[in-house]
Amino acid sequence: MALWAPTHNLPLSPVKSHARRTRRRPRSRRGYGTGMVAMAASYEYEEGQLERPKWAGQTPLSRLVRTIISFKPLYSLLKLGARNVLISTAEKKNIPWREMTKDILESDVYKELERIQNPSLVYPDYYLNPFHAYDEGNLSWLAAAEAEAATMSMARRAIPDASSLDEANEIIRGNWLQAIEQHHLQYSGNSTIRDILDVGCSVGVSTGYLADKFPSAKVTGLDLSPYFLAVAQFKEKKRSPRKNPIIWIHANGEDTGLLSNSFDLVSMAYVLHECPEKAIVNLVKEAFRVLRPGGTVALTDNSPKSKILQELSPVLFTLMKSTEPFLDEYYLNDLEATLREAGFVNVQTILTDPRHRTVTATVPH
Ligand SMILES: C[S@@+](CC[C@H](N)C(=O)[O-])C[C@H]1O[C@@H](n2cnc3c(N)ncnc32)[C@H](O)[C@@H]1O
Repeated sequence: MALWAPTHNLPLSPVKSHARRTRRRPRSRRGYGTGMVAMAASYEYEEGQLERPKWAGQTPLSRLVRTIISFKPLYSLLKLGARNVLISTAEKKNIPWREMTKDILESDVYKELERIQNPSLVYPDYYLNPFHAYDEGNLSWLAAAEAEAATMSMARRAIPDASSLDEANEIIRGNWLQAIEQHHLQYSGNSTIRDILDVGCSVGVSTGYLADKFPSAKVTGLDLSPYFLAVAQFKEKKRSPRKNPIIWIHANGEDTGLLSNSFDLVSMAYVLHECPEKAIVNLVKEAFRVLRPGGTVALTDNSPKSKILQELSPVLFTLMKSTEPFLDEYYLNDLEATLREAGFVNVQTILTDPRHRTVTATVPH
């Protein structure tokens, strides 16, 4: 999974990492006359033999895991187990999970909620269910306070051989941003990225990366959780002011209410695996609507083709599925086809780290 999953550092059944063996530093190349530096993406992460992992979709193995999870007492145990494993492995990797959570929960973050919350927003049904081992899903302060530590864990999990969190982030976020930049330079017809929408921005980590990468752009972070957005705004206020302050919007990415043709880049980072099929399709359609002609959509998330994900141990994927209700729907969706059906062209997929792909596409001119 992406942000919220037990790591493969479980003592029970460790899976071998292929990260060091397969990692390549991308070559750089100048070009396209836009003033931006284009980097030729040449990552070479290992793909597995299958289209998607055997534990995903309508396979006997997947059905077995679903049956196990649907047994309520076992589900509660698995949920608790997944949470404990997540926290303890994060802390072993020097991510101070409990300390970070406490800092947020004991701060003034609560004041931000009223400013950010849209009280008339109607949540989609899928968003109101328990999720990630939180009974209130993403609609809680605890989920919001733990989200940044979970993001850090995801980076460490994706690049287990990285010597530090910074190095892991440099690879996963660096490769993702580079894939976006390269796609836009190649297909946008020289248009500059002026307006960026980060759908499913959570506590603003991806939004911050986008704002740092494209400092002249106006960046908007949008999420369904007002608690996450409150943390995003609180953290943003603590850092040095940006030339273009980030705008936070509490809305549904499926129907944002934003103007058509008003963005050059719409990003969704680690969002789609948390959504049912119908929401995935709607999110992609809405991205198409709000993008300008020549605009780029960038979807980064778990790669069904990742060798590491295909080879996860049964214990790990059972734990993972116990807190991620829509993984099967995500893995069964043909994302490239979904993008084409929405009208996108130049659909490209690249493994930007050993676990995650970045799928980019363009709105025709
Ligand atoms: C794993 S987090 C994203 C992390 C963040 N983009 C990053 O890269 O650090 C997924 C986010 O998607 C949000 N989300 C899920 N469905 C959504 C929807 N329909 N509209 C907007 N946000 C949504 C969740 O609230 C959650 O904050």
